[in-house]
Amino acid sequence: MKKFISKFAAAAAILICCVYCAGISKTPSKGKTLKDAYKNDFLIGTALNTTQIEEKDPKAAALILQQFSAVTPENIMKAEIIHPEWDRYNFDLADKLVAYGNKNKIKVNGHTLIWHSQLPAFARRIKDVDSFKTFFNNHITTVASRYNGKIFSWDVVNEALNEDGTMRKSLFLDKLGDNFVTEAFRLAEKASPKTELYYNDYNNEQPKKREGCITLIKKIQAAGVRIDGVGIQGHWHLGHIPFKEIEESILAYHALGLKVMFTELDIEMLPRNFQGADVNQRQASNPALNPYANGIPDSVLQQQANDYANLFKLFLKHKDKVTRVTFWGVNDGQSWLNGWPVPGRTNYPLLFDRAFQPKPAYFAVMALKK
Ligand code: XIL
Repeated sequence: MKKFISKFAAAAAILICCVYCAGISKTPSKGKTLKDAYKNDFLIGTALNTTQIEEKDPKAAALILQQFSAVTPENIMKAEIIHPEWDRYNFDLADKLVAYGNKNKIKVNGHTLIWHSQLPAFARRIKDVDSFKTFFNNHITTVASRYNGKIFSWDVVNEALNEDGTMRKSLFLDKLGDNFVTEAFRLAEKASPKTELYYNDYNNEQPKKREGCITLIKKIQAAGVRIDGVGIQGHWHLGHIPFKEIEESILAYHALGLKVMFTELDIEMLPRNFQGADVNQRQASNPALNPYANGIPDSVLQQQANDYANLFKLFLKHKDKVTRVTFWGVNDGQSWLNGWPVPGRTNYPLLFDRAFQPKPAYFAVMALKK
């Protein structure tokens, strides 16, 4: 009987150990996490929405602190929120974010000072050039100086280019001419000497847009104005990651003396009829565009894991040039790709699922560091 009990106890111990160990391998918080695994390579960031900045989502709050070493506000530093009226600024949420970053030793990237989208209504109504110039100067100076040295970096200008490398038609181009990008950096440099300054865009890894981006950067540099880095947003599609163009771009931007960052990484899992991330482009909803509303096959998640692994292999190869990789959202349920460009879809672009559990892509990215 004694023998039986001890055999039983040994079997139970093995069983408990197996369950526990399996639990560990499935629970990233118990082992190394993304930010730890990559701490000697580059920062690992995430975009934060308002609920997350206010720490009202306990599961997200825990995961963010475990996994990420950098954050970018998804919306709350955009002009329409931070500068809603000509003479009124709303710094509440941005201040909270800065305090949160400080408290948790997480680097904050300000996003974004100058962008054609999410502008306050009053700015769109300004007719004369002088008033628009005043708005432009006041906005950059007031916002950038408030966070001078308190945030790590700014996306000073976002998405100023077309796909062919020419300047995008926007209120800024229309009212200020194509020097507005250099002027934005000049103002930001003055207001925020202790904060790094970046240009950010999507598809600027593609040859023509990259050429336009390089021209823009050289123009800023030739004017004697500081620019520290360039962000490639990285809104890519399953099975269509432009690896060759990404590598060429890392080298080309680095050759200009800039830090290179992947600033809004996600891998779109659903069909749509265009590439890129132009927020003005939309597509009508239709069931064929939402194939995984009730769940996504493991085989597709595995393909995504392979894409992410190959991307991170490339980032690691150039870890002397790549300083940050930021995901555009914490988990799949919180991704903007559930609502854009087609409303009401169920997308799966990130490393954590809707229950905050790590996906195959997470384990594939972690496996590179074993
Ligand atoms: C997106 C946000 O994720 C959405 O919540 C918002 O409705 C629209 O903007 N490129 C950018 C980001 O630089 O600011 C955009 O963020 C996504 C595309």
